[in-house]
Amino acid sequence: MAREKRTILITGGAGFIGSHLVRHWLRNHPQDIVLNLDALTYAGNLANTEDFKGYVNYHFVQGSITDEHLINQLFERYQFNWVFNLAAESHVDRSIHDPLSFVQTNVLGTTVLLQACVRHWSLSDQNTPSKKHLFYQISTDEVYGSLSAGAYFTEASNYAPNSPYSATKAAADHLVRSYYNTYNLPVVISNCSNNFGPFQFPEKLIPLMVLNAVEEKKLPVYGDGRQMRDWLFVTEHCQAIDVIAHKGKLGETYLVGGKNEYHNIDLVNLIAEIIDEKLERKKGTTAALIEFVRDRPGHDLRYAIDASKIERELGFSPSQNFEVKLKETVDWYLANSQWTKDVISGEYRRFYQLNYGTN
Ligand code: NAD
Ligand code: TYD
Repeated sequence: MAREKRTILITGGAGFIGSHLVRHWLRNHPQDIVLNLDALTYAGNLANTEDFKGYVNYHFVQGSITDEHLINQLFERYQFNWVFNLAAESHVDRSIHDPLSFVQTNVLGTTVLLQACVRHWSLSDQNTPSKKHLFYQISTDEVYGSLSAGAYFTEASNYAPNSPYSATKAAADHLVRSYYNTYNLPVVISNCSNNFGPFQFPEKLIPLMVLNAVEEKKLPVYGDGRQMRDWLFVTEHCQAIDVIAHKGKLGETYLVGGKNEYHNIDLVNLIAEIIDEKLERKKGTTAALIEFVRDRPGHDLRYAIDASKIERELGFSPSQNFEVKLKETVDWYLANSQWTKDVISGEYRRFYQLNYGTN
C-alpha cells in the first residue's frame, strides 16, 4: 500500500524530545514534509537539529505558538495534515519561580494552535481511516499528581496536578479534549513518564547530575531522595508517538511509560558509579559529591504508569534496558562537551543560582 504523504507541524522541535521526534520522522517517513516551529527559548537549541540540514523536506521557522498571526500564516502556507504539539515550558522548578510564562506557552499557546486547526481544517470529513488531520498533544503523567507505593496511573486516573507546570499541562489536556467534543477536532493525547537521553537540557535530573559529576560539583538531591520516577528512553517515546499517531483512536488518551522505576537517590548513585567507571575514578569518589538539599515545594513523591492500554491496543512496549541506555546517555554527554558548554549560558547560571543558591 502506498504511504500517505503528509505535511507535519512539530512544535518545540529544537528542544529535547521535539528534536528526537523530528529526527525520527525524517528517517521513518521520508515522504512527509516536516516543519519545525520553535521559539528558541533557553531550552531550544539549533545545535540539536544540525543533522537535519541535509533533508530537503525539512523546514525550520523560529516563532512562538502564542503568535496567532504567525500560526495562521503557517497553516495557510503549509496546509498541515498533522500537528504534534511539544512546544512547552517544561521544567517544574522553573514553573515554581515563574508560573506565568508556563500559562502563556502551555495553555494559551496550545489554544492558539487548536483554534488554527478549527479554522483551517474542514471538520466534517474527520474520522476517515487515513486520518487526514490530527492534532496530537504531547503531555505528561504529572497531570495525575502523586502516587503512593503500589499504585499506578491509568488513562482513567483523575487529574490532580501539584505544580504550576503540571497544572498548565493539565489545562492544555482539558482544552484539547474539549475541542474533540465541541468542534469534532481529531485529537489524541499521550501522557508519558520522565524521558532521558541525548540533548536533554541539563536542568533535568539525569543530565544535571552527569554534568555536575564530571565537573566534581555537588550532586543536589532534593529532600531525602526517596521520590520515584519512571524513566523512558526518548527514542522509544518517539516510537510510541508514531504508533499512537498512526494507530491510536481519535479522542483517546494513551499513557507511555518506561517500566523503569527508580528512587532518585538510587539513580543518582547509579550515575555516580557509571561516572567513576568511565572517568577511571576510585569507586565511591563521585557518590561522595551527593548532597541532600532543601526539598522542592509540592514535590510529588512517585509517578508510575500502567501502560497496558498502549500495549494491548497498539502493540507498543518499551525495551526495558535502562542501564544500557543510561550508559549510552552518559557517553553522549561525555563526548559532546561543546554542546554542553554552549547551553550552559549566563541564563542557565542565573537559574542555577536562583534554584540551588550556589553556582
Ligand atoms: P524542552 O524544554 O527540552 O523543549 C521545549 C521546546 O519548546 C524548546 O525548544 C523551546 O524553545 C520550545 N518552546 C518553548 N516555548 C515555546 C513557544 N511559546 N513557542 C514555540 N516553541 C516554544 O522540553 P522537552 O523535555 O523536550 O518536552 C517536550 C514536551 O514533552 C513538552 O510538552 C513537555 O511538557 C512534554 N513532556 C516532557 C517530558 C520529559 O521528561 N522531558 C515528560 C512528559 C512530557
Ligand atoms: P526532573 O528531572 O526535574 O523531572 P520531574 O520533576 O519533571 O519529574 O526531576 C526528576 C526527579 O529528580 C524529581 O523527583 C526531582 C528530583 N531532582 C533532584 O533531586 N535534584 C535536582 O537537582 C533535580 C533537577 C531534580
